Amino acid sequence: MDAQLEALLSELETFGIENDDGQDDRSRKMLNLESDAASFISILARNGNCQRMLEIGTSNGYSTIWWAWVAEQTDGRVTSIEISADKQAMADENLKRANLRDRVNLLLGDATEIVKSIEGTFDFIFFDADRYSAPEQLKLLLPKIEVGALVLADNVTSHPEQIAGYLDVINALDDFDHMVIPVGKGVSLAYRTRKED
Ligand SMILES: C[S@@+](CC[C@H](N)C(=O)[O-])C[C@H]1O[C@@H](n2cnc3c(N)ncnc32)[C@H](O)[C@@H]1O
Repeated sequence: MDAQLEALLSELETFGIENDDGQDDRSRKMLNLESDAASFISILARNGNCQRMLEIGTSNGYSTIWWAWVAEQTDGRVTSIEISADKQAMADENLKRANLRDRVNLLLGDATEIVKSIEGTFDFIFFDADRYSAPEQLKLLLPKIEVGALVLADNVTSHPEQIAGYLDVINALDDFDHMVIPVGKGVSLAYRTRKED
């Protein structure tokens, strides 16, 4: 990663922490992924040559920039879904500043509705929005998840009750290997080994 992009990510990290510390309205918090978790996931995604990447929960684009940086190296693309128009506008601006805007499709709306009709297949999915909706979103996306795909979710150790339903679904899937990585706020990492008929 070049120094300019590193500096932008560092700036956004500081902005997110300071904004969230001073903000009582949860809907206005950025709730960005921890940098060590983002870095770890980006190594896995680069190693897996991920090209069809989906993110649920864009916020202001901090993690989206990491995935777009991966996509730049794998000749891939990122689709990222966000329900807040204000946050999506911030992500749009931040991706432009990162010179990575052309790698990303930003979709606005409720992710559960959007994934019902989303086109394509995915070799990387990062769940980072409403943890209660994630199990349904995962079930809807199953036919579109390729063998060899990485399926990740954040906040396993920070919000164990909220993410329990998602973990129940992923643990019950025989065609995925799954473990929790103690990085950042706890990352659920699943790997699709085959597709059930
Ligand atoms: C934890 S933040 C995402 C942080 C971002 N991935 C990052 O690391 O910079 C969760 C985001 O999901 C959005 N969100 C919540 N429920 C959603 C839904 N049903 N559909 C789409 N976005 C949703 C919120 O507005 C919020 O911006």
